[in-house]
Amino acid sequence: MPKPPLSMKPTGWFQVAWSDEIAIGGVHTMTYFGQDLVAWRSESGALTVMNAYCEHLGAHLGHGGTVIGEVLQCPFHGWQWNCEGRNVCIPYEDRPNRGRRITTYPVLERNASVYIWHDEAGRAPFFDAPDVFAGFEDGSCADDYYPQQRLFEPAKSMHPQYVLENGVDVAHFKYVHGTPINPIFTRHDFAEPVSFVDFTITFTGDDGQRIEDVTSGVQAINGGLGIAVTKSWGMIDNRTISCITPVDEFVSDVRFSVYIGRPRAEVRNPERAAVKAEEFGAEIIRQFRQDIEIWSYQRYSDPPALTQSENAGFTAIRSWAKQFYPDHQPA
Ligand code: FES
Ligand SMILES: [Fe+2]
Repeated sequence: MPKPPLSMKPTGWFQVAWSDEIAIGGVHTMTYFGQDLVAWRSESGALTVMNAYCEHLGAHLGHGGTVIGEVLQCPFHGWQWNCEGRNVCIPYEDRPNRGRRITTYPVLERNASVYIWHDEAGRAPFFDAPDVFAGFEDGSCADDYYPQQRLFEPAKSMHPQYVLENGVDVAHFKYVHGTPINPIFTRHDFAEPVSFVDFTITFTGDDGQRIEDVTSGVQAINGGLGIAVTKSWGMIDNRTISCITPVDEFVSDVRFSVYIGRPRAEVRNPERAAVKAEEFGAEIIRQFRQDIEIWSYQRYSDPPALTQSENAGFTAIRSWAKQFYPDHQPA
């Protein structure tokens, strides 16, 4: 597997789990950014993500570690660690070790996802993770939608930036997703770490229609390289969250969450409406899988051979992306 030419240690918020995968008292083991990590949830519901190895003698806290109240107890000698990674109890000594601390990560639970902030330089979060409802400032919330449908594709040979670039890639929709005509972009806003892309697109009709006459589209918000949320308009109401999280220098985990809107008015057959929504969600997931198939074998092209119509979007997104890499020197 070739190593991607872009750093696999970008800065930003990245999804590491779905919230319901870590119940109260649960200890979840994972590897991201080349680090073995544990996520654990205390009795009060607080979620902590920290390095997996006990600072005492290095036991892996994800293998036999237990949650006791608000601390995680190591399986080896019973040392207890709190949500700040501090040692609060050595059961066979009078006092804890106040000097040693397990590295913890800023954690955010939003839209049923668990996000961690990753920054090689240890800087605090300098932008927020986008919310698939509140981000669009339209008063929507999860209750307006059927339960989330999900896709999890672990360890794909993929870099997060490929997925982001897909959002400005006009020409792929026809070939990968079977749209009748090319979409048109109405907004490219890459001024801040949270960027915005809007486009007019249709998945129906024939290739004789004009994009100017299409009355449907998608709005996207990219929170750094790790998270992209979308909202549709003028078609079956759907929202999506796509998240790509580097595991190590070679592969990333892909998570995709889809919401389909509930009917606004009373419907005669609610069961049938729910089945239809489920089918539509499955179709959106199928389309995303088609992208993943391309991305997982893609080799990053730099400089790419862009046509004139592709140039502005790709140039904007690639220069925006640079700010998230560890070797970036602010201008
Ligand atoms: S290694 Fe964790 S308590 Fe000893
Ligand atoms: Fe796509």
